[in-house]
Amino acid sequence: MTITTRAPHPGSLLKELDLDRTGFLYLIELASELKADRAAGTETAQLTGKNIALVFEHSSTRTRCAFEVAAHEQGASVTYLGGPGWQLGAEESIADAARVLGRLYHGIEFRGYAQATVEELARYAGVPVWNGLTDEWHPTQMLADVLTMLEHHTGPISEISLCFVGDARNNVARSLLITGALLGLDVRVCAPRRLWPPDEVVERAQELALGSGALVTLTEDLTTGVAGVEFVYTDVWVSLDETEEQWARRVALLAPYQVTERVLAMSGRPDVKFMHCLPAVHDAASALGNRLYQQFGLVGAEVSDEVFESDRSIVFDQAENRLHTVKAVLVSAFETG
Ligand code: CP
Ligand code: NVA
Repeated sequence: MTITTRAPHPGSLLKELDLDRTGFLYLIELASELKADRAAGTETAQLTGKNIALVFEHSSTRTRCAFEVAAHEQGASVTYLGGPGWQLGAEESIADAARVLGRLYHGIEFRGYAQATVEELARYAGVPVWNGLTDEWHPTQMLADVLTMLEHHTGPISEISLCFVGDARNNVARSLLITGALLGLDVRVCAPRRLWPPDEVVERAQELALGSGALVTLTEDLTTGVAGVEFVYTDVWVSLDETEEQWARRVALLAPYQVTERVLAMSGRPDVKFMHCLPAVHDAASALGNRLYQQFGLVGAEVSDEVFESDRSIVFDQAENRLHTVKAVLVSAFETG
Protein backbone atom coordinates (compact mmCIF):
# COMPACT_ATOMS: atom_id res chain seq x y z
CA MET A 1 0.00 0.00 0.00
CA THR A 2 1.25 3.47 -0.81
CA ILE A 3 1.91 5.64 2.22
CA THR A 4 0.72 9.21 1.83
CA THR A 5 3.46 11.80 1.94
CA ARG A 6 2.98 15.53 2.44
CA ALA A 7 4.83 18.68 1.54
CA PRO A 8 7.00 19.73 4.48
CA HIS A 9 5.17 21.95 6.94
CA PRO A 10 5.81 25.61 6.01
CA GLY A 11 7.50 26.18 9.36
CA SER A 12 10.18 23.59 8.55
CA LEU A 13 13.83 24.43 7.91
CA LEU A 14 15.63 21.59 6.17
CA LYS A 15 18.32 23.56 4.33
CA GLU A 16 19.19 27.17 3.53
CA LEU A 17 17.64 26.78 0.07
CA ASP A 18 14.23 26.49 1.77
CA LEU A 19 14.51 30.22 2.48
CA ASP A 20 14.69 33.16 0.13
CA ARG A 21 16.66 36.29 1.02
CA THR A 22 13.62 37.96 2.64
CA GLY A 23 12.73 34.89 4.68
CA PHE A 24 16.31 34.49 5.88
CA LEU A 25 16.60 38.13 6.92
CA TYR A 26 13.20 38.01 8.63
CA LEU A 27 14.56 35.26 10.93
CA ILE A 28 17.66 37.35 11.65
CA GLU A 29 15.55 40.38 12.52
CA LEU A 30 13.28 38.29 14.76
CA ALA A 31 16.33 36.73 16.47
CA SER A 32 17.76 40.15 17.09
CA GLU A 33 14.49 41.31 18.68
CA LEU A 34 14.25 38.17 20.82
CA LYS A 35 17.86 38.67 21.93
CA ALA A 36 17.16 42.27 22.94
CA ASP A 37 13.98 41.25 24.80
CA ARG A 38 15.86 38.54 26.71
CA ALA A 39 18.59 41.00 27.72
CA ALA A 40 15.98 43.55 28.85
CA GLY A 41 13.94 40.92 30.74
CA THR A 42 10.90 41.63 28.58
CA GLU A 43 10.72 38.37 26.60
CA THR A 44 7.24 36.92 26.35
CA ALA A 45 6.56 33.21 25.96
CA GLN A 46 4.98 32.47 22.59
CA LEU A 47 5.28 28.66 22.65
CA THR A 48 3.40 27.81 25.84
CA GLY A 49 1.93 24.31 25.63
CA LYS A 50 4.08 23.23 22.67
CA ASN A 51 6.04 19.97 22.83
CA ILE A 52 9.19 19.59 20.78
CA ALA A 53 11.12 16.39 19.99
CA LEU A 54 14.91 16.68 19.73
CA VAL A 55 16.26 13.76 17.71
CA PHE A 56 20.06 13.34 17.78
CA GLU A 57 21.91 10.59 15.90
CA HIS A 58 25.21 12.03 17.07
CA SER A 59 26.73 14.34 19.62
CA SER A 60 26.07 18.03 20.09
CA THR A 61 26.58 20.74 22.66
CA ARG A 62 25.49 23.99 21.02
CA THR A 63 22.60 22.73 18.89
CA ARG A 64 21.02 20.67 21.63
CA CYS A 65 21.42 23.38 24.25
CA ALA A 66 20.18 26.11 21.90
CA PHE A 67 16.99 24.16 21.15
CA GLU A 68 16.44 23.21 24.81
CA VAL A 69 17.00 26.70 26.24
CA ALA A 70 15.09 28.42 23.41
CA ALA A 71 12.12 26.11 23.94
CA HIS A 72 12.14 26.50 27.74
CA GLU A 73 12.42 30.28 27.58
CA GLN A 74 9.47 30.40 25.19
CA GLY A 75 7.34 28.13 27.39
CA ALA A 76 7.66 24.88 25.37
CA SER A 77 8.71 21.44 26.64
CA VAL A 78 11.28 19.20 24.96
CA THR A 79 12.01 15.48 24.80
CA TYR A 80 15.59 14.47 23.92
CA LEU A 81 15.72 11.35 21.77
CA GLY A 82 19.29 10.17 21.27
CA GLY A 83 21.94 7.70 22.31
CA PRO A 84 21.53 3.94 22.48
CA GLY A 85 17.83 4.06 23.35
CA TRP A 86 16.91 5.72 20.09
CA GLN A 87 17.79 4.32 16.69
CA LEU A 88 15.83 6.02 13.98
CA GLY A 89 15.20 3.67 11.10
CA ALA A 90 16.51 0.58 12.96
CA GLU A 91 13.44 -1.01 14.53
CA GLU A 92 10.92 1.30 12.94
CA SER A 93 11.02 3.03 9.57
CA ILE A 94 11.60 6.76 9.42
CA ALA A 95 8.14 7.19 7.88
CA ASP A 96 6.51 5.40 10.82
CA ALA A 97 8.54 7.21 13.47
CA ALA A 98 7.77 10.55 11.76
CA ARG A 99 4.04 9.85 11.86
CA VAL A 100 4.19 8.89 15.54
CA LEU A 101 6.25 11.94 16.52
CA GLY A 102 3.99 14.15 14.40
CA ARG A 103 0.93 12.98 16.40
CA LEU A 104 2.59 13.68 19.76
CA TYR A 105 4.80 16.70 19.15
CA HIS A 106 4.25 20.13 17.65
CA GLY A 107 7.72 20.18 16.06
CA ILE A 108 10.78 17.96 15.53
CA GLU A 109 14.47 18.87 15.45
CA PHE A 110 16.77 16.34 13.76
CA ARG A 111 20.58 16.15 13.91
CA GLY A 112 22.15 13.24 12.11
CA TYR A 113 23.93 11.89 9.12
CA ALA A 114 21.83 11.74 5.95
CA GLN A 115 19.98 14.77 4.61
CA ALA A 116 17.50 12.23 3.20
CA THR A 117 16.48 11.33 6.77
CA VAL A 118 15.47 14.86 7.76
CA GLU A 119 13.68 15.27 4.42
CA GLU A 120 11.79 12.02 4.99
CA LEU A 121 10.83 13.04 8.53
CA ALA A 122 9.42 16.26 7.07
CA ARG A 123 7.45 14.41 4.39
CA TYR A 124 5.61 12.28 6.93
CA ALA A 125 5.46 14.21 10.20
CA GLY A 126 2.91 16.87 9.29
CA VAL A 127 4.55 19.25 11.78
CA PRO A 128 7.56 21.57 11.39
CA VAL A 129 10.90 19.74 11.13
CA TRP A 130 14.21 21.56 11.67
CA ASN A 131 17.63 20.40 10.50
CA GLY A 132 20.12 20.64 13.37
CA LEU A 133 22.99 19.46 11.07
CA THR A 134 23.31 16.74 8.49
CA ASP A 135 26.21 15.66 6.30
CA GLU A 136 25.09 18.26 3.77
CA TRP A 137 23.72 21.34 5.51
CA HIS A 138 23.75 23.28 8.80
CA PRO A 139 21.02 25.93 8.36
CA THR A 140 20.54 26.92 12.01
CA GLN A 141 24.29 27.55 12.25
CA MET A 142 24.04 29.89 9.25
CA LEU A 143 21.39 32.01 10.93
CA ALA A 144 23.64 32.43 13.98
CA ASP A 145 26.62 33.24 11.79
CA VAL A 146 24.82 35.89 9.76
CA LEU A 147 23.44 37.52 12.94
CA THR A 148 27.00 37.52 14.35
CA MET A 149 28.51 39.02 11.19
CA LEU A 150 25.85 41.74 11.14
CA GLU A 151 26.56 42.57 14.79
CA HIS A 152 30.25 43.08 13.97
CA HIS A 153 29.83 44.75 10.58
CA THR A 154 29.03 48.38 9.95
CA GLY A 155 27.46 49.30 6.63
CA PRO A 156 25.15 47.46 4.26
CA ILE A 157 24.97 43.67 4.35
CA SER A 158 26.10 43.57 0.70
CA GLU A 159 29.52 44.83 1.86
CA ILE A 160 30.13 41.76 4.02
CA SER A 161 33.00 39.61 2.76
CA LEU A 162 33.98 36.24 4.15
CA CYS A 163 36.29 33.41 3.27
CA PHE A 164 35.93 29.81 4.43
CA VAL A 165 39.39 28.21 4.72
CA GLY A 166 39.76 24.45 5.25
CA ASP A 167 37.73 21.32 4.42
CA ALA A 168 35.24 22.94 2.05
CA ARG A 169 33.41 19.73 1.19
CA ASN A 170 31.83 19.72 4.61
CA ASN A 171 28.34 20.78 5.70
CA VAL A 172 29.35 24.15 7.15
CA ALA A 173 31.35 25.22 4.10
CA ARG A 174 28.54 24.23 1.72
CA SER A 175 26.03 26.08 3.84
CA LEU A 176 28.19 29.21 3.98
CA LEU A 177 28.63 29.24 0.22
CA ILE A 178 24.88 28.97 -0.39
CA THR A 179 24.05 31.47 2.36
CA GLY A 180 26.54 34.03 1.07
CA ALA A 181 25.21 33.59 -2.46
CA LEU A 182 21.58 33.89 -1.30
CA LEU A 183 22.23 37.09 0.67
CA GLY A 184 24.44 38.79 -1.92
CA LEU A 185 27.74 38.70 -0.02
CA ASP A 186 31.35 38.44 -1.22
CA VAL A 187 31.72 34.76 -0.31
CA ARG A 188 34.89 32.80 -0.92
CA VAL A 189 36.09 29.26 -0.38
CA CYS A 190 39.80 28.61 -0.07
CA ALA A 191 40.82 24.94 0.00
CA PRO A 192 42.83 22.35 -1.90
CA ARG A 193 40.94 21.55 -5.13
CA ARG A 194 39.95 18.06 -4.00
CA LEU A 195 38.27 19.49 -0.90
CA TRP A 196 36.00 21.94 -2.72
CA PRO A 197 32.22 21.59 -2.35
CA PRO A 198 30.50 19.35 -4.92
CA ASP A 199 29.94 20.89 -8.38
CA GLU A 200 26.15 21.03 -7.95
CA VAL A 201 26.52 23.16 -4.81
CA VAL A 202 28.94 25.54 -6.54
CA GLU A 203 26.62 25.79 -9.57
CA ARG A 204 23.63 26.53 -7.32
CA ALA A 205 25.64 29.26 -5.55
CA GLN A 206 26.60 30.78 -8.90
CA GLU A 207 22.95 30.76 -10.03
CA LEU A 208 21.86 32.46 -6.80
CA ALA A 209 24.62 35.04 -7.22
CA LEU A 210 23.15 36.10 -10.57
CA GLY A 211 20.01 37.25 -8.73
CA SER A 212 21.55 38.51 -5.47
CA GLY A 213 24.68 40.26 -6.75
CA ALA A 214 26.91 37.99 -4.65
CA LEU A 215 30.54 37.45 -5.58
CA VAL A 216 31.32 33.72 -5.43
CA THR A 217 35.01 32.74 -5.49
CA LEU A 218 36.65 29.33 -5.15
CA THR A 219 40.42 29.21 -4.97
CA GLU A 220 43.32 27.13 -3.73
CA ASP A 221 45.38 30.25 -3.19
CA LEU A 222 45.31 31.74 0.31
CA THR A 223 46.28 35.23 -0.82
CA THR A 224 43.42 35.37 -3.34
CA GLY A 225 41.00 33.84 -0.84
CA VAL A 226 41.69 36.06 2.11
CA ALA A 227 42.71 39.41 0.54
CA GLY A 228 40.38 42.16 1.75
CA VAL A 229 37.95 39.93 3.66
CA GLU A 230 36.34 40.98 6.93
CA PHE A 231 35.59 37.45 8.20
CA VAL A 232 37.82 34.36 8.00
CA TYR A 233 35.89 31.20 8.87
CA THR A 234 37.09 27.65 9.41
CA ASP A 235 35.77 24.34 10.71
CA VAL A 236 37.21 20.99 11.80
CA TRP A 237 39.30 19.08 9.26
CA VAL A 238 37.42 15.82 9.95
CA SER A 239 33.65 15.98 10.45
CA LEU A 240 31.34 13.84 12.56
CA ASP A 241 30.30 11.64 9.63
CA GLU A 242 33.92 10.71 8.90
CA THR A 243 36.32 8.26 10.56
CA GLU A 244 39.43 9.22 12.48
CA GLU A 245 41.55 7.49 9.79
CA GLN A 246 40.91 10.59 7.70
CA TRP A 247 43.08 12.70 9.98
CA ALA A 248 46.48 11.69 8.50
CA ARG A 249 45.36 12.51 4.95
CA ARG A 250 43.58 15.69 5.99
CA VAL A 251 46.54 16.98 8.01
CA ALA A 252 48.81 16.48 4.99
CA LEU A 253 46.37 18.34 2.72
CA LEU A 254 45.28 21.10 5.05
CA ALA A 255 48.33 21.99 7.16
CA PRO A 256 49.15 24.98 4.89
CA TYR A 257 45.56 26.21 5.39
CA GLN A 258 45.64 26.42 9.19
CA VAL A 259 44.22 29.82 10.18
CA THR A 260 47.15 31.58 11.82
CA GLU A 261 48.07 35.20 12.48
CA ARG A 262 49.85 35.15 9.09
CA VAL A 263 46.62 34.12 7.33
CA LEU A 264 44.59 36.82 9.08
CA ALA A 265 47.26 39.38 8.14
CA MET A 266 46.79 38.41 4.47
CA SER A 267 43.35 40.06 4.67
CA GLY A 268 45.13 43.39 4.96
CA ARG A 269 42.35 44.52 7.32
CA PRO A 270 42.97 45.59 10.89
CA ASP A 271 39.30 44.81 11.64
CA VAL A 272 39.43 41.20 10.34
CA LYS A 273 37.45 38.73 12.50
CA PHE A 274 37.88 34.99 13.02
CA MET A 275 34.83 32.69 12.97
CA HIS A 276 34.27 28.97 13.74
CA CYS A 277 31.06 27.04 14.32
CA LEU A 278 32.78 25.01 17.12
CA PRO A 279 33.82 22.57 18.42
CA ALA A 280 37.37 23.58 17.39
CA VAL A 281 40.76 21.91 17.55
CA HIS A 282 42.96 24.80 18.64
CA ASP A 283 45.09 23.23 21.38
CA ALA A 284 45.75 19.88 23.04
CA ALA A 285 43.22 20.40 25.86
CA SER A 286 40.49 18.16 24.39
CA ALA A 287 40.93 14.38 23.98
CA LEU A 288 40.93 14.85 20.19
CA GLY A 289 43.40 17.75 20.34
CA ASN A 290 45.68 15.66 22.55
CA ARG A 291 45.52 12.66 20.17
CA LEU A 292 46.47 14.91 17.25
CA TYR A 293 49.34 16.34 19.28
CA GLN A 294 50.60 12.83 20.16
CA GLN A 295 50.18 11.51 16.61
CA PHE A 296 51.24 14.45 14.44
CA GLY A 297 52.94 16.88 16.82
CA LEU A 298 50.15 19.35 15.96
CA VAL A 299 49.14 21.95 18.54
CA GLY A 300 45.79 22.94 17.12
CA ALA A 301 44.62 21.90 13.68
CA GLU A 302 42.32 24.14 11.63
CA VAL A 303 43.16 27.22 13.75
CA SER A 304 46.11 28.22 15.90
CA ASP A 305 45.51 28.76 19.59
CA GLU A 306 46.80 32.32 19.22
CA VAL A 307 44.06 33.21 16.69
CA PHE A 308 41.34 31.32 18.56
CA GLU A 309 42.09 33.17 21.81
CA SER A 310 42.73 36.55 20.18
CA ASP A 311 40.44 39.58 20.35
CA ARG A 312 39.66 39.03 16.65
CA SER A 313 37.93 35.75 17.51
CA ILE A 314 34.12 36.03 17.64
CA VAL A 315 33.43 32.32 18.07
CA PHE A 316 31.60 32.65 21.38
CA ASP A 317 29.33 35.34 19.95
CA GLN A 318 28.43 32.81 17.24
CA ALA A 319 27.79 30.15 19.90
CA GLU A 320 25.50 32.46 21.91
CA ASN A 321 23.65 33.48 18.78
CA ARG A 322 22.69 29.85 18.18
CA LEU A 323 20.19 30.36 21.02
CA HIS A 324 18.58 33.53 19.69
CA THR A 325 18.37 32.31 16.10
CA VAL A 326 17.01 28.87 17.00
CA LYS A 327 14.42 30.68 19.12
CA ALA A 328 13.46 32.72 16.06
CA VAL A 329 13.10 29.52 14.02
CA LEU A 330 10.80 27.99 16.65
CA VAL A 331 8.68 31.12 17.18
CA SER A 332 8.31 31.80 13.45
CA ALA A 333 7.37 28.17 12.69
CA PHE A 334 4.23 28.55 14.73
CA GLU A 335 3.50 32.01 13.36
CA THR A 336 3.30 30.49 9.87
CA GLY A 337 1.77 27.17 10.91
N1 CP B 1 28.18 24.23 15.98
C1 CP B 1 27.49 23.16 16.38
O1 CP B 1 26.57 22.68 15.67
O2 CP B 1 27.88 22.65 17.56
P1 CP B 1 27.36 21.30 18.23
O3 CP B 1 27.93 20.17 17.38
O4 CP B 1 27.92 21.31 19.61
O5 CP B 1 25.88 21.28 18.20
N1 NVA C 1 31.60 20.02 10.09
C1 NVA C 1 31.34 19.71 11.46
C2 NVA C 1 30.37 20.66 12.04
C3 NVA C 1 30.06 20.48 13.49
C4 NVA C 1 29.13 21.52 14.04
C5 NVA C 1 30.82 18.29 11.58
O1 NVA C 1 30.00 17.87 10.77
O2 NVA C 1 31.28 17.58 12.47
